[in-house]
Amino acid sequence: MVKIVHVCDGIYRNDGDAGPKDVLFENQKLIRFMDKFYLRCDPEHLTAVEVSVLCAERAKDPSVVLGPNGDVRTIFKKYISLLQPKRFLEIGAGNNPIFSGVEAQELGVAYSTCDADPKYADLFSGQSSELSYSDGFFDMASAVFVLHFRFYEAQVSELFRCLANSGIFVANVYWRSQESRKGLAKMFLDAGFSLSIVPDEQRICRDHEYWILGKRDSDVAEAGIKFREVLVS
Ligand SMILES: C[S@@+](CC[C@H](N)C(=O)[O-])C[C@H]1O[C@@H](n2cnc3c(N)ncnc32)[C@H](O)[C@@H]1O
Repeated sequence: MVKIVHVCDGIYRNDGDAGPKDVLFENQKLIRFMDKFYLRCDPEHLTAVEVSVLCAERAKDPSVVLGPNGDVRTIFKKYISLLQPKRFLEIGAGNNPIFSGVEAQELGVAYSTCDADPKYADLFSGQSSELSYSDGFFDMASAVFVLHFRFYEAQVSELFRCLANSGIFVANVYWRSQESRKGLAKMFLDAGFSLSIVPDEQRICRDHEYWILGKRDSDVAEAGIKFREVLVS
């Protein structure tokens, strides 16, 4: 049986057994998110405060680094190691960055992190979308389990500014509807990005895909081929 616990208005934890897709709780229809949460709406429509509360609640559970999250981070780790960026930015690293400081050092990469929640890293959000890096500073950026939340137009432009002409941004996308993915893709394309979508044949999560973005079609196509190689390795 589900056991719904109020975390904040809009965000509820399920301390019981895995429950149905929707539940009615205190006259409000809630939708299941992962196994352990119920939300008032899809994650992309949550407010910044709700996102922060949800992510903080999720971060309390050590098992989140295992399972799908761990699998995707392992793939990204391999991919980033293959591309060997010199300056790498992780967006939405939370309390669970892809690399430890030691790993980044071993890889010889200058590793920067940012997050919508300033308790984890440099602030980067809809409210504060300026990054303190010069134009074209990063040769690679990535976001793991972030783009199901709202990603703001100003963030996309800032990312474009900070990415080198040959730079690559890789992220995973799930949960969003087809309509919502189209809207997100349009935002990146309108900012000047080229996009290649690699479907997740392993189906690590439902409707899960990898988005590879960059400024030049040829670089993105090549980066997409390398990503597929990592997936089958
Ligand atoms: C589900 S957690 C993922 C954390 C980590 N990447 C992982 O894989 O475990 C999502 C993280 O993205 C951050 N976030 C959500 N929306 C964001 C946005 N628009 N820009 C930057 N960070 C965002 C949250 O604050 C949170 O730290």
